[in-house]
Amino acid sequence: MVRLGVNVDHVATVREARKGELPDPVAAAIVSEMAGVDGIVCHLREDRRHIRDKDLYLLKEVVKTHLNLEMAATDEMVKIATEVVPDMVTLVPEKREEVTTEGGLDVQSNPDWIEEVINQLHNHNIVVSLFVDPDVQQIKAAVRCGADYVELHTGMYANAEDLSSIADELEKLRSMAMAASKLGLGVSAGHGLNYHNVRDILDIEQIEELNIGHAIVAKAVMVGMETAVREMLEIIRRGK
Ligand code: PXP
Repeated sequence: MVRLGVNVDHVATVREARKGELPDPVAAAIVSEMAGVDGIVCHLREDRRHIRDKDLYLLKEVVKTHLNLEMAATDEMVKIATEVVPDMVTLVPEKREEVTTEGGLDVQSNPDWIEEVINQLHNHNIVVSLFVDPDVQQIKAAVRCGADYVELHTGMYANAEDLSSIADELEKLRSMAMAASKLGLGVSAGHGLNYHNVRDILDIEQIEELNIGHAIVAKAVMVGMETAVREMLEIIRRGK
């Protein structure tokens, strides 16, 4: 059964619209767990535009399932991660100006530093995933650096508009999931997935886990977090 990790960043985005206390991403995590999710994901960005340090510390205290911290591979973030010790760290690229994480991590161009960061995290028993484009060179580089997982970037698939590009992107994800798994990596996927486009992804048997944020929070604004999470879980558990 594919696991669902709910990313609560955009609950914090709404809070930051008023720089206040509500809505609380930690409360959203608790409700998501009560609805049956397998894990909680948050991204502590360098500019702290949504999740704050305090949220992360609180999430570490309250999350009972699995906490996956997305972060850039910087000294500041490694220091925080090795203090908090989430179950998993997902290394992502980060640009200040971007609206959201735009591309996968370029592991191939920076293998020594990525390996060093992975080693530091492993020393604290943190499982490490690298968020990469569905590209065989990046996947091979992830193996060489000692990553445990790759999270395949589904953004190109989610943004594809016509049927043939959707099929092409899906095929890329399918073959790269297979390649990563053959090379001994765990495989997850995420970015831009929603209640419709997630269905075809469920067909890819090597994908163990999906990380979904924006679509669930967007629905939660209308119907509530618990219902939004349950509807996604139903789709995932039903399978394609
Ligand atoms: N996985 C990673 C690595 C991400 O950076 C994000 C966005 O923060 C997600 C999954 C979730 O993407 P979305 O919010 O589009 O569902």
